[in-house]
Amino acid sequence: MRTRELLNLENTGHQGINALFAKAHSADWDIERDVDWSLSVDSEEPLVEYEWGAFGRTPTFQALPEHAKNYVTRRGLGRMLNILQVGESVAQDVCAKIALSVRQEDYRNHAVAQAMDEARHHLAYRRFLDKMNEQPEDIDFGTEMMFDDLLSQTDPLRLIATEQFFLESLAMNLFESIQKHARNPLLRTIITLITRDESRHMGFGVLYIAEWMKTHSLDAQIDFARQWLGQILMIVTDRPGPLMLSRMTQRLQEIGVDYDAAQMLHEQQSINAAEIADMKSGQKVPHLLKSARRAGLLKPEILEAVGIADHPIVKAAIREPVTEALGA
Ligand SMILES: [Fe+2]
Ligand SMILES: [Fe+2]
Repeated sequence: MRTRELLNLENTGHQGINALFAKAHSADWDIERDVDWSLSVDSEEPLVEYEWGAFGRTPTFQALPEHAKNYVTRRGLGRMLNILQVGESVAQDVCAKIALSVRQEDYRNHAVAQAMDEARHHLAYRRFLDKMNEQPEDIDFGTEMMFDDLLSQTDPLRLIATEQFFLESLAMNLFESIQKHARNPLLRTIITLITRDESRHMGFGVLYIAEWMKTHSLDAQIDFARQWLGQILMIVTDRPGPLMLSRMTQRLQEIGVDYDAAQMLHEQQSINAAEIADMKSGQKVPHLLKSARRAGLLKPEILEAVGIADHPIVKAAIREPVTEALGA
């Protein structure tokens, strides 16, 4: 990069993206002033409702002794927060790379503002994990591989599609679930503040991809959509199964509690089926599908070409008008 290349940076003039940069300041928060770090995190305290965890709504789980439910739920939350704290550092790296590789002034501005948000999120999760005062379980191989792949990318479209469009839309549902079930006031505060920022980041991803789609041929749009829609449909229908059950077994073994694993899995399967039915009826449309729709990936000609025009979850996602504002 040379000074000459920075001398007359072009702004795309995109109102939405320029507005998100302004909001990064007006909706900013201060990690010291806006969070009461004197609040304690008791080791006996269930930090989230038991229903938050995988299998937490099954009668078999609910019948476990209180100390076992607490232990399993805290281990699950600790594991999730540990993935989130490293995910924030990955996002910070991705934003730094975007800022150095895109030439448009408004895109660069958004990337650097987001990098600061991610640094703050990382710090908030780390501090909360420190207060929990227990060694979190290691992150799983699949997540680590996904983050490694993202960190090795250099193309801005690939970086933005993976981080802001895909991962942040996916994470929005995780945040909303923790926020809804949080019992600990400190956890609820930090998740609420972080979710507000993440909604802007996801907004940038959607607007950037929407612009990219508008300026590329239908064939290129179809190629792009094909890459992402398969993953999106796979992840939105992913529900607790045998892999998650093995974590449950391990955690309960750690504290010497026996349980009927087959029965718990069986009970979870009917909960899973009910959740999938809610998506098919359009009662619950995941953020990933809302983002895909807003970015233009669910246009009829694309769905036809990709061969998912009759997919019930896709049909439900395009039925209702999208009303919420991006990054509000
Ligand atoms: Fe973040
Ligand atoms: Fe983010």
